[in-house]
Amino acid sequence: RSDFALRGGRPASVLVLGGGVAGLACAYELGKAGYDCTVLEARDRVGGRNLTLRGGDTLTELPLTATAPAGGAGGLQRITFGEGTYFNAGPARIAQWMVTLDYCRELGVPLEVFVNGNSAAYVLTTGMKTPVRVRTARADAYGYVSELLAKATDEGALDARLTAADKERLLDFLSRFGEIGPSHAYAGGERRGFRVNPGVGPGEGLGVVPSLTEVLSQGLGRVLTMDAGYEQAMPMFQPVGGMDAIVRALAARVGADRIRTGTRVTRITSTAAGVEVAVEGGAPLRAEFCVAALPPHLLAGIPGNLGAKVRSALSAAVPVSAGKLGLEYGRRWWEIEDRVYGGATETDLDVGHIWYPSYGFHGERGLVVGYYNTGADAEVYSAMTHPRRLRRALAQGRKVHGAKYAEGVLASASISWRRQPHIEGAWVRWSSQEAFRLLQRPAGRVYFAGDWLTHLIAWQAGALESARKVVTELHHRVLKEA
Ligand code: PHE
Repeated sequence: RSDFALRGGRPASVLVLGGGVAGLACAYELGKAGYDCTVLEARDRVGGRNLTLRGGDTLTELPLTATAPAGGAGGLQRITFGEGTYFNAGPARIAQWMVTLDYCRELGVPLEVFVNGNSAAYVLTTGMKTPVRVRTARADAYGYVSELLAKATDEGALDARLTAADKERLLDFLSRFGEIGPSHAYAGGERRGFRVNPGVGPGEGLGVVPSLTEVLSQGLGRVLTMDAGYEQAMPMFQPVGGMDAIVRALAARVGADRIRTGTRVTRITSTAAGVEVAVEGGAPLRAEFCVAALPPHLLAGIPGNLGAKVRSALSAAVPVSAGKLGLEYGRRWWEIEDRVYGGATETDLDVGHIWYPSYGFHGERGLVVGYYNTGADAEVYSAMTHPRRLRRALAQGRKVHGAKYAEGVLASASISWRRQPHIEGAWVRWSSQEAFRLLQRPAGRVYFAGDWLTHLIAWQAGALESARKVVTELHHRVLKEA
């Protein structure tokens, strides 16, 4: 059963440029309707940013300077993760409302829970001397905020806004929300957690509750609300065995005979009757239509006749940096010692988040994401060789987990999305909304697809939604022209 289908029409030919999730989904949907599609992919593998790294893989990064060779100066990593270990170097989590899950169902890609928020994980911000568990930070923050609001209510400061009944209900809410008791003073409680867990004995609490001033200076507003974002809703999901299961399923449905990897597009010419695409080291290809599903900032640099307006619109997409580091440990100390099973530690260190694996619990090995950062933090790591990234990230992670964090790393791999050949960015932001709007329309017989054309930038769901929209429009045109 499929959720989406184009009906009627004829088997028109389409060249799909770019074998990322958007390009593959276009070819898949058009293929279901009998179109004759060919996918051209510059890299030696399809999937684009949907990249899962395993032992035996190599990862090449572009040089930092235009003159250095790709893969040179430490830009080549040979990955030595053990059997069964995988690292989702790109997308890693899928929200329940996203169309990505519908594709997983249609394609038969098995899913498992991705533990996104975990109150047993830690937070560490510059305002904190030591890391604390998310639950502890939350108990203290909710406790003091509740205390302040309850006291203001008690003192009549909110009388202009609240009826007598409102006041009573608000106080009832706050007493539960902040665990503040009848005195309306926050003094800590069981929600903070224990130093010695209850069992046969009652347990031993964590000790001194930080002061209101200390809690305010922790700057927890961002880190405690991470999973409140609509896109980050708990629980999230991941394909069993690696995110690239989606890529494999799509590519299998499209058919290997219709996918040409290692094929770089050098010119795109749209004519009245069709599209001609020149490729490096091969004869030009022709089709009635083309879907360009490449990163916009790279598409902007490909010669052709799409016009100055389109070119300048494509150039209005500004690539954003993001990076990730996968650390394979020979012992799952975060589970055994820290009692953290999945989820993330949020920090305002340059590593951003530290992620614990949502698969392989209690296994022999495990893969921790030592950083997932964006923007300026990602650029710091991007400019380094892998060994330097590793050293820096281990030093940062030690601030959360202590010495054990830097011990027992069996293998590691890191990615700078800005330095990935033929991708050159984690995602984009738009410097012009007009440009974004212009590219929603085809340029002659060339359509554009990708997450960059949606309000779901940096999500596979964006790529998939865009693919559905573009193939629908293309199909309607084919029906009209027939
Ligand atoms: N989808 C990416 C993630 O899950 C990037 C992103 C983060 C996009 C937050 C939007 C909001 O981290």
